[in-house]
Amino acid sequence: MSVTSATSVYYDPYDRDIYTNPYQVYQRLRDETPLYYNDQHDFYLVSRFDDVERVLADRDTFTSAQGGLIGMMNLPMPPGMFIYEDPPQHTMHRALVARVFTPKRVATIEPMIRDFCARTAESLVGRESFDFMWDFAAEIPMQVIGMLVGIPESDQTRLRDHFHSVMHAGMADPSENEALTTMAADDLFGEYIDWRAEHPSDDLMTQLLNLEFEDETGTTRRLRRDEVLIYLELLAAAGSDTTAQLISWAGKLLGENPGQRREMTEHPELIAGGIEEILRYEPPPYHFCRTAAHDVEIHGQAVPAGSAMVVLPGAANRDDRRFAEPETFDIHRQVGRIFAFGFGPHLCLGANLARLEGRIALEELLRRVPDWTVDMENAVMNPGVATRGWQSLPVVV
Ligand code: HEM
Repeated sequence: MSVTSATSVYYDPYDRDIYTNPYQVYQRLRDETPLYYNDQHDFYLVSRFDDVERVLADRDTFTSAQGGLIGMMNLPMPPGMFIYEDPPQHTMHRALVARVFTPKRVATIEPMIRDFCARTAESLVGRESFDFMWDFAAEIPMQVIGMLVGIPESDQTRLRDHFHSVMHAGMADPSENEALTTMAADDLFGEYIDWRAEHPSDDLMTQLLNLEFEDETGTTRRLRRDEVLIYLELLAAAGSDTTAQLISWAGKLLGENPGQRREMTEHPELIAGGIEEILRYEPPPYHFCRTAAHDVEIHGQAVPAGSAMVVLPGAANRDDRRFAEPETFDIHRQVGRIFAFGFGPHLCLGANLARLEGRIALEELLRRVPDWTVDMENAVMNPGVATRGWQSLPVVV
């Protein structure tokens, strides 16, 4: 018997109406069909907090090696793209990047992030309207990745635009997914790698180039150029659109909640907690996916080995089994664990950087532009299914 036969609840990641306002569907999924099966795209889905936590924590049962997004499963991925790896490769590759992508490295670029956010916010002062996504949110993350890895500021808009278009092309239409696998990271980062090899500096790219490690054959060596490229590509792909969506959701939610926005303006120490609530209330990832490594039972139903298992962070983050009054946006909430950054072994490696970017962006913006209203009639949601957020978010000041 199909797990969906007893109920008419329906979820399809490509359905734009659901994407636009998924929260009623999420509630029905949690309450009526905690294990959902979609026969059109052939995936299972969990939406309750405890179930999402269980799937993401249990890497032996739910593997990442077949991919992590619906429409992009079972595509060939180069070794080192560790978001789509299992142990031992995942452990080894993630540890390598974690050796150079440290809290100290993030602290080093913090003044540069603040300076850039201040300049970007300053450019909005005096305007009667602007696009919160394009004139502010989308400007910041790729620039920050550029600072992290050591790419000149003048070249970073090109990087951002490239990744934005590749991510959206790949996510909106699975038939265009090849774009992602053939992503021309070499065009983007290659020339800098060669330049950095000649001109070492105090940045992540130089550190990656100089890193000595023991590979799977037991040989101590440095990373090859193609390996460094993969890591840079992963950081840029994982850290650009997601962080832009976090900042644009801040624009949307604070535009709609002027009282809480004013509190944050008057008491900037509330901004960090506000960012957590934004991540809970409207998490940038729309869905992500695992594959059942063996037969497993969830809510009394069999999930066969090889099945795709989707988790919905946005649904779990509003599960009333976990959160009191989950539909209320409250920057004073003690948020605790949420799934905006995933959970378990693949927990986002850039979570602290993303939180820092979100906090600094809001601190610098609220100081200069403390009031805005979102022009929802002209706002456009982004076309992808990897992240949920805004392509254009016009605001009136
Ligand atoms: C608000 C911004 C961000 C969000 C919402 C976010 C979300 C996520 C999520 C949900 C995962 C786990 C995916 C899975 O389990 O399949 C992940 C992994 C990852 N993220 Fe982020 N991310 C953000 C920013 C960043 C930034 C700024 C960077 C780095 C510059 C980054 C680098 C990574 C990496 C390297 C992984 C792979 C970790 C692994 O597989 O072990 N992310 N991110």
